[in-house]
Amino acid sequence: MEIRKVGVLGCGLMGSGIAQVAATAGFETVVKEVSDDLIAKGFGGIEKSLAKFAEKGTITSDQQREIRSRLSGTTSFAELADCDIIIEAIIENLEEKRSTYKQLDEICKPETIFASNTSSISITEMMTATSVERQRRFIGMHFFNPVPLMKLVEVVKTILTDDDVYEQAVDFGKKLGKVPVRAGDKTGFIVNRLLVPYMLDAIRALEEGVGSIVDIDNAMKLGCGYPMGPFTLGDFVGLDTTYYIAEIMFNEFREKRFAPPPLLKRMVLAGLYGRKSGRGFYDYKDPKNPTPMNLI
Ligand code: CAA
Repeated sequence: MEIRKVGVLGCGLMGSGIAQVAATAGFETVVKEVSDDLIAKGFGGIEKSLAKFAEKGTITSDQQREIRSRLSGTTSFAELADCDIIIEAIIENLEEKRSTYKQLDEICKPETIFASNTSSISITEMMTATSVERQRRFIGMHFFNPVPLMKLVEVVKTILTDDDVYEQAVDFGKKLGKVPVRAGDKTGFIVNRLLVPYMLDAIRALEEGVGSIVDIDNAMKLGCGYPMGPFTLGDFVGLDTTYYIAEIMFNEFREKRFAPPPLLKRMVLAGLYGRKSGRGFYDYKDPKNPTPMNLI
């Protein structure tokens, strides 16, 4: 089966980015959300991103229009029934995901590949909400924020994924213009397995007075050539998301390095989620000139 039509579940930051790269790669792409408002919001983000690429000359204005014409939004599951692959990027909640997959399994054609963009939930736990046949066609495809710019996709195989389906997904990742890496279904896959303990350790270093927010960020940026220091990155990813991933990883591995530090928990309890809430390790009152928060 050739992949021609792509379905995307969720039009948030990740879903809209995935839809954008699929349409840019030439695939007819339909995005499902729970309301027209959320579709409009997600598509607004896509327009902005495409406009940036057009401004830079990465795409022409004709291509910009063509990409846009390959994208459609819907609030109905039925419109995903004939997709060749569906990439799910809804809220990181196992029960929500299982119930979504169960409904989709009943209406999608038998060949449809199901892929989850989860960053931390076990693919196997989602997969078991579907029929035995579908479980062979169930994988993880984990993209990185901002999806239109980040070149990586982790393609995740469970112990039941068909080899052919897996290779097709790897190939599809390449067609999206990404570099696929192969990962097993272990919570956090490759990137978060390494990134999350690093980010948590930076918070512990701050708690222990090793350095300030700005100095720790600068140290890793300028000393290691990372594009963002750990606190800027945490604010960018979302501290609620980081906390949630850490909790899941801690539950899976029961290892201290995955345990969220008390400061992170308190920040999330206080609503300091990072950029999206206006405050995290930095205050984004002036988004171009964030100032460090006084947290210790
Ligand atoms: N679409 C199109 N263009 C975009 C864009 C988008 N969505 N976002 C940014 N750009 C453009 C900007 O307009 C800018 O263009 P100019 O050079 O013309 O000004 C250019 O990209 C560079 O952006 P910035 O100047 O804002 O900043 P930057 O040079 O630092 O690059 C970045 C931005 C690519 C995000 C870079 O900082 C980076 O790579 N950061 C690390 C991101 C990262 O680690 N992501 C992974 C997070 S972990 C995750 O996602 C997984 C998980 O499970 C938690």
